[in-house]
Amino acid sequence: MHHFTYKGNELHCEDVPVSRIAQDIGTPLYLYSHATLLQHFRAFDGAFSDVAHLTCFAVKSNSSLAILKLFAIEGGGADIVSGGELYRALKAGVDPKKIVYSGVGKTGEEIEYALRSEILMFNVESSQEINLLNEVAGRIGKRASIAIRVNPDVDPKTHPYISTGLKESKFGIEIERALEDYTVAAGLRHLRVAGVSCHIGSQLTQVSPFVDALGKLKVLIEKLRETGIAVQYLDLGGGLGITYDKEEPPHPDEYAEALKRELHAQDLTVILEPGRVITGNAGILVARVLYIKRSPEKTFIVVDAAMNDLIRPSLYGSYHAIQPVRRSERRMVKADVVGPICESTDFLAKNRETAVFEPTDLMAVMSAGAYGFSMSSNYNSRPRVPEVMGVGDRYFVIRSRETYEDLVRGENIPDFMGE
Ligand code: LLP
Repeated sequence: MHHFTYKGNELHCEDVPVSRIAQDIGTPLYLYSHATLLQHFRAFDGAFSDVAHLTCFAVKSNSSLAILKLFAIEGGGADIVSGGELYRALKAGVDPKKIVYSGVGKTGEEIEYALRSEILMFNVESSQEINLLNEVAGRIGKRASIAIRVNPDVDPKTHPYISTGLKESKFGIEIERALEDYTVAAGLRHLRVAGVSCHIGSQLTQVSPFVDALGKLKVLIEKLRETGIAVQYLDLGGGLGITYDKEEPPHPDEYAEALKRELHAQDLTVILEPGRVITGNAGILVARVLYIKRSPEKTFIVVDAAMNDLIRPSLYGSYHAIQPVRRSERRMVKADVVGPICESTDFLAKNRETAVFEPTDLMAVMSAGAYGFSMSSNYNSRPRVPEVMGVGDRYFVIRSRETYEDLVRGENIPDFMGE
C-alpha cells in the first residue's frame, strides 16, 4: 500500500499533484509520502508488539534526516554500518541506546565514536574485530556490548548480489565457529556478550529462509547457555522484500507470526533491522522526458534522471515500474528509458512495454524510496537531486538540490599549477 495514486488523471503524492511539485522544485527529484512511511513503519513494528522487540531502521536504505527523525519519533532505533550513519542517526534524534552497529570493516575511529556515543550493541563480524573492540573499549574506559553476527549458511533465494547469509559471503562468522569466538569474547574484560545477530540477505520474498536461520540461531543460543553465556538480544537483521513488479512477499504480519512461532518461550528481546519494506514503496523518482530517440531497432525515452540518481537497474537489473505523471489514453510502446550518462548501462528500464511519452512529459519511477537516493552519486558531475516529503496537501523539501559549487566543495588545485 502506498499513497501515490491517480486522482483524475493526475498522479498525486497524498493530496499534492506530483506535477505541481515538479513545477516548483524542478526535476529530477525524489518524492516520499509521509503517510506511507508512517503506515509501513507502524505495520512492521506493530506486528511485533506482543513480544519484547526493537525495530532498528536500516539507515543505509534511506539516510535522510527527516525520515530518520520520523521513525525516531515512532520509538524506532537504527541499524548503522558506518560512522557517517551514526552521525546521521544521532543528528536525527535516534536514541543511542537503540542503535546497533553492523559491518565487516569498522575502523578503530568508528568504534571509538560509537563507544563514546553509548550505542546499544556492536554486531561484530570477525575475531580480529572482537579484539580491536576490546582494545579500544579498554583504552577509553568503556565496556562494549556485542553480538556476534553469525552466518547461518541459509539460501535467501534472492539476487546473488544482495545475498549475505551463505557460506561464501564475506559477512558474519560461520555458525560452527561462533561458539569459540563467543567463549573468547566472554573472557575479555572490556566486552559484554549481549546478543546473537544475523542478516541473511535483502528483498526476500519468502518466510522460510528467515525461519531456517532463526532455527539455527536458537541452537547456538542453547549451546551458549550451556556454556554459561546468557544472551539478551536476538537480532534477526532486515531483508523482508517488497513488490516492485509481480513479487508477492509476505505481509509483515505473516513474517512476524512465523518468527514468533519459532521464537516461542525464548526470553529474549528481538531486534529487527528493516529497511526496504518500510521505505521502498514510500518513494518515487520523478523525471522529465527530454527526447524520444528512435532507431530502426529501438525506441529510447531519454529522461533527465540517470543511473547516478537511481543505480538499481544498472547494478542489479532491478525492475522499477514506470508511470506517467499525467495519465491519458496512450498507445503502448516497447522502449528503453535511459538517462544522459555516458554509459551503456545508464538505463532505468529496458525493453519496457510502456505508455508513449513525449518530450517534456513527467515520468514517475516507482518503488524508489529504498536504496535510491542513498546510493546516488555525482558521476558525470551531476549534482545530486533534491528530496521532498509530501504530507497531506503540503510538501517539504527535506534536502535541497546540489549546486555546481557543492560539486567542487573541498577540492583544491595545488599552488604549483598556478592560477
Ligand atoms: N541489516 C543489515 C546488516 C544489512 O546489511 C541490511 C541491508 C539491512 C539490515 C536492511 O535490509 P533490507 O530490509 O533493506 O532488505 N542495495 C541493495 C540492497 C543492499 C542491502 C544491504 N544490506 C538494493 O538496492 O537492492
